[in-house]
Amino acid sequence: MTKEPVKLPEKLAATQAGVVGLGLMGTSIVTCLLAAGHKVTGLDKNPSRRRGLRRRVGKFLREMRREGLLARDPRSVVRNLRSSGDYADLRDCGIVIECVREDLKLKRQVLRKIEEAVPSETLIGSNTSALPISQLQRGAEHPERILGIHWGEPAHVLRFMEVICGRQTSLERAEHVVELARRWNKEPTLVRRDVRGFITNRLMYAMMREAFHLVEAGYATPADVDRSVRNDLGYWITFAGPFRYMDLTGIPAYAAVMRDLLPDLDCGKNVPALMRRVVRAGAKGVSNCKGFYPYTAGQARLWQRLFLKFSYEIRKLALKYPEDVGDRPVKRKNPTARAG
Ligand SMILES: NC(=O)c1ccc[n+]([C@@H]2O[C@H](COP(=O)([O-])OP(=O)(O)OC[C@H]3O[C@@H](n4cnc5c(N)ncnc54)[C@H](O)[C@@H]3O)[C@@H](O)[C@H]2O)c1
Repeated sequence: MTKEPVKLPEKLAATQAGVVGLGLMGTSIVTCLLAAGHKVTGLDKNPSRRRGLRRRVGKFLREMRREGLLARDPRSVVRNLRSSGDYADLRDCGIVIECVREDLKLKRQVLRKIEEAVPSETLIGSNTSALPISQLQRGAEHPERILGIHWGEPAHVLRFMEVICGRQTSLERAEHVVELARRWNKEPTLVRRDVRGFITNRLMYAMMREAFHLVEAGYATPADVDRSVRNDLGYWITFAGPFRYMDLTGIPAYAAVMRDLLPDLDCGKNVPALMRRVVRAGAKGVSNCKGFYPYTAGQARLWQRLFLKFSYEIRKLALKYPEDVGDRPVKRKNPTARAG
């Protein structure tokens, strides 16, 4: 029996939205919500983040307009944005997304403050990368409306979104967020049971652990690993996930490789030593020109710009090959040709 599509309450579709934490991700999430037609309140405890918000978001909106992702004038869209340092300004929001640093204690404090400010039916999403949602729900007044809303960066460009239920999340509310996400131009995945890291981060971190292992054990340099991944996974992974890829390239060979290779993969439980060294040295990547590669200020800016440009281009390519592209009925050019 097919399930009736979830009906999104109109009130929620047109609701005011709040974003708490206006860093890298908060800024692009604000942009996405404004572009989707919401009025948005952006909240950060840091006044400099609030001051620069309108300029940063305005730049993203102009870029969306150039790329054909925004039909309206960016100047009128940005008028729907206000910034604040006071949680009470979230009081009219139907949905609030928490986007502060990845720290359980801090996120819990922020969620409590949001709960105190908003009505009991307001949906509260956490953009945590990997914290279990059930842990964020602990001690909440209305845990049933708290859920994971996991965005990818840049949030105003990517189609990615995972909506994650914690142990106490109401499935109906999670389904409302999935419907909202479609209006935000996303292709959401509903994760029905809480699991640390959800789907993509579990897979990505498994890959990163192995990448560190290959470098630390002296098999390859970071540049070697990056080059191989870009040219192998990079070529198919936007078209097919791992399961479709195995269907396309022959299943038994994977079983044979798994038998011998899986016992050989790194299963370390600690943060890799190289990662600890790089972090201790103060590296934050392109944002401070210190990372696994060296950067001049100009190179760092160029990498950031090109990353964004690439995100728009790969988005266009991915849209030509939707998830069900191969399931559509095949059109025959000349149906009579087969009859004889
Ligand atoms: N960076 C990514 O690519 C990415 C991708 C997916 C998910 N995430 C997740 O998104 C979250 C935010 O990541 P980010 O990279 O945007 O972080 P960030 O450090 O760039 O931004 C965090 C912001 O939160 C603000 N903040 C801190 N405490 C606050 C408080 N008590 N009240 C209000 N504002 C407060 C800070 O001033 C800062 O502006 C993290 O949980 C991260 O794991 C990040």
